[in-house]
Amino acid sequence: MKFTFNRSFVGFLAVCILSLAACNNAGKKTSGTSLMTDSTTATLPPAKGFEQIIDGKQTHYYILKNKNGLQAAFTDYGAHILGLLTPDKNGRLKDVIIGFDSIGDYKKTMSAYYGATIGRYGNRIAKGHFVLDGRRYDLFINNKPNTLHGGKKGFNDVVWDTKQVTDSTITFTYLSKDMEEGYPGNLQCQVTYELTPDNALKISYEATTDKNTVVNMTNHSYFNLNGIGNGTILNHVVQFKAANYTPIDPTSIPTGQIAPVAGTPFDFTKPATIGSRIDEKNEQLKNGGGYDHNFVLDPHDINTPVATITGDKSGIEMQIFTAEPGLQFYSGNFMNGKTTMHGGATDEYRTGFAVETQHYPDSPNKPQFPSTELKPGQVYKTVTIYKFSAK
Ligand code: BGC
Repeated sequence: MKFTFNRSFVGFLAVCILSLAACNNAGKKTSGTSLMTDSTTATLPPAKGFEQIIDGKQTHYYILKNKNGLQAAFTDYGAHILGLLTPDKNGRLKDVIIGFDSIGDYKKTMSAYYGATIGRYGNRIAKGHFVLDGRRYDLFINNKPNTLHGGKKGFNDVVWDTKQVTDSTITFTYLSKDMEEGYPGNLQCQVTYELTPDNALKISYEATTDKNTVVNMTNHSYFNLNGIGNGTILNHVVQFKAANYTPIDPTSIPTGQIAPVAGTPFDFTKPATIGSRIDEKNEQLKNGGGYDHNFVLDPHDINTPVATITGDKSGIEMQIFTAEPGLQFYSGNFMNGKTTMHGGATDEYRTGFAVETQHYPDSPNKPQFPSTELKPGQVYKTVTIYKFSAK
């Protein structure tokens, strides 16, 4: 594994007032967002639904902010991101990350992994097993016939410890015990969220182990850059620096091939809307029920964006920077409209998309893919940045 260290005036006023209002809450456990609510201004999910006892542990709710008014809410339950407010082209705040008002709603929609920290292994491991150092490890098959996003009780469904919190950063830690969900080694994990001065959400992961194991952590936020509840994501414009992707079989396991995107609906090397080719007759789109594929990012470093996505109505642009070699682009194909999101709309089909930075799915069974092995003495360290602007 490569461890790369790797505005209308009214709108403007609204941002200022919101910034002031949120000031007292930043970086603290709060009992409410105390954010201004009107028909034009988005809010974050309230604290109330996130202060519970889960698995015998008290859960908490936190708000972070930066100096420009970027704000986001988090909970130690699953180290979830609950929402993120950023200004649109008119200076009005939009909540661009899909969230819900209670842990109960996150439990109800668990198989969608909204906003969750994913581990120990992001995405699928074929048939729920792999061989490491000659020994076979069996995992829980939670996405027949495969294991998805950590198994039965992944990192998304445990209460993390809060190590440190400031106005703009928060660090959660979690000890995943030896053989938890079938994975070898005590894995001490850490995820830090930071709202940076240049309007980015920076996510830094770290992990160490006492036995050889595999690790592939990511975040499973669903974005709607027009703002949560503002319709489908099909007119969002996407560009990926990825000349290749990993095709999948009908159970969504990579075939092992690294295939060129050129001439296929997977070619986002030039800007294209998500919806422009999503309904084309194509075996890969059929296998994924739309886009649900790992893009093989062209060689890059953390200072160059690997993806740029723009909300057609809001003008909000999100750039992604990452130390990871892959990006799972998932077009919300299994969203089913059964749960009310924060703000009152339901989680309808394709009203959010996920862009999960990662090592490739099923790498433990695919020696030709970049390795996900972590050994004692090594430090798993990886960073992903989602940067926001509007025009
Ligand atoms: C997977 C999808 C899955 C979604 C929600 C994505 O990362 O690739 O197949 O439906 O997560 O679980």
